[in-house]
Amino acid sequence: MRSLEQDVAKVLISREELERRIAELGAQISTDYDGHNPLLVCVLKGGYMFLADLTRALTIRHGIDFMAISSYGASTETSGVVRLLKDLDYDITGRHVLIVEDIIDTGRTISYLLENLRVRGPASLRVCTLLNKPSRREVPLHIDYVGFEIPNEFVIGYGLDYAEAYRNMPFIGVLKSEVYSCQPAEENQRPHDRCYLES
Ligand code: IMP
Ligand code: MG
Repeated sequence: MRSLEQDVAKVLISREELERRIAELGAQISTDYDGHNPLLVCVLKGGYMFLADLTRALTIRHGIDFMAISSYGASTETSGVVRLLKDLDYDITGRHVLIVEDIIDTGRTISYLLENLRVRGPASLRVCTLLNKPSRREVPLHIDYVGFEIPNEFVIGYGLDYAEAYRNMPFIGVLKSEVYSCQPAEENQRPHDRCYLES
């Protein structure tokens, strides 16, 4: 059986680079929110690993909560349809809320979330994203904290998936094209197992 590692064409952001940048973001957020007990709202599922490391880089008191949103099916292109799959456990009225996202691509998901949360009357509402793909933006946005600006490539790892796989990779990587096309890489080679899983 083909390993997950074998599907990776290149590592875009290494484990060490992620660690370094998240330590910087944690220090910045700790300074900015000192004395404010912010609520970090993680957007599932992609944001889970980033949240886990970001909260460990914070030195201030804070809470966490989760929302689940769906905007992608099994494909790498946005459907444009955003659905709320899981709402927050906490009332955010009067709270300082920081949304923690894995990646902002077209901006549709985060725009939907910002609108949805703003009407609940938080004391403040900001966005922290690990990755930003500004070239793909369809909705004008202000993002308060960005880990890395990345080119227009579909990335996986560190929480981000392709068809639910690769979230556990400890780096941000780009997949080989045959993973998407489900075509054999070479003649006489069968398409690998993911293709069978999806069909
Ligand atoms: P947007 O609504 O187009 O900004 O898309 C945001 C969501 O799409 C992210 O939270 C991801 O779940 C998913 N997404 C966008 N680009 C990528 C990518 O390169 N890899 C994996 N997921 C992605
Ligand atoms: Mg996401």
